[in-house]
Amino acid sequence: MAHISKTLEASSSNLDHCAQLLRDGDVVGMPTETVYGLAGNALNLSSVRKIFEVKGRPLIDPLIVHFINLQAAEPHIKSNDSVRRLAEAFWPGPLTMVVPKKESIPDIVSAGLPSVAIRVPRHPVFRQILERIDFPLAAPSANPFGYVSPTLAKHVQQTLGSRIQAVLDGGPSELGLESTIIDLRNPEQPAILRHGPITESQISEVLQMQLIRHTRSPDDQAAQSAPGLLTKHYSPKAKVRLLPHGDTRPLSEHTESDAKTALVLNQKPIWHTTEHSIFWLSESGDLSEIAHNLFELIQRLDQQEVQQILIEQAPEQGIGQAINDRLRRAAAKLEAID
Ligand code: TXA
Ligand code: MG
Repeated sequence: MAHISKTLEASSSNLDHCAQLLRDGDVVGMPTETVYGLAGNALNLSSVRKIFEVKGRPLIDPLIVHFINLQAAEPHIKSNDSVRRLAEAFWPGPLTMVVPKKESIPDIVSAGLPSVAIRVPRHPVFRQILERIDFPLAAPSANPFGYVSPTLAKHVQQTLGSRIQAVLDGGPSELGLESTIIDLRNPEQPAILRHGPITESQISEVLQMQLIRHTRSPDDQAAQSAPGLLTKHYSPKAKVRLLPHGDTRPLSEHTESDAKTALVLNQKPIWHTTEHSIFWLSESGDLSEIAHNLFELIQRLDQQEVQQILIEQAPEQGIGQAINDRLRRAAAKLEAID
């Protein structure tokens, strides 16, 4: 547990300080519109190594490289028309594209793969840092490997604060879920690798093409060479059990053990409750609000040492797909243990 706060408000002098830390090869916790990232110079081997070390992340799990714009990324990738069209439509924003890489991107960044994941984030604080430096930033989510992604500077401070020099505070992450990842290595066969805030239908509308459905996510690719990694991804400490969308019965109607349990619903229940163990992610069931609040609530419940979380799934539509994907990963731990 870190006792010294490394959290810095995003003042101009703190931005200068963090830009200098990055030039010196250090890693910095930084806000993005999706989740907080742990950023380091993508072109500097020792910075990238530091990212893996601080997170406790296996070297087989590649990193996303963040650029100020597509032009800055182009010298490092083999681009294609789909990349340009999607960049035009969704950048800066929560879309990551996997494309063939050039040699300037170190192999450690892509875990030895001939492709690299690239993204142009829209968070103003992240962009102000990119404007101050002349290299791209590799940045995975700023959580210890296997844990839920951080959506507040406080989350980064609490879990990685003792291992890093600074966390820039950019307020709560607007979207609350990691970016959508699309595989464009073969532009004829675009495929979603991770569901996120940009939906499948938004992407296929821009490309005027159906997307291929991979049964494997990027994490599974990593897990292929190290079985068992996937089950730990996005796992809170509490056991998570999923309820079907629409199952809004009170806690007393669920048969759970005596463990300290929380019930998490999409929206405020119609039944009156004074229970302290009932939570809802949105007053009205709004999917963006649910996504925004999900990881923050899970981390709050972990802090309160809740042992079991019963959580209602979202409808499988729009960003609901990404929400349910993260919920299934969170619940996977239970299957692994039991
Ligand atoms: O929203 C986000 O994407 C956040 C913010 C900080 O930008 N970043 C993030 O990074 O979620 P990370 O490292 O936690 O997740 C990146 C995922 C991993 O599952 C990784 O396996 C996959 O992207 N990935 C990275 N490079 C890849 C590649 N070349 N091919 C396939 N998958 C890749
Ligand atoms: Mg992550």
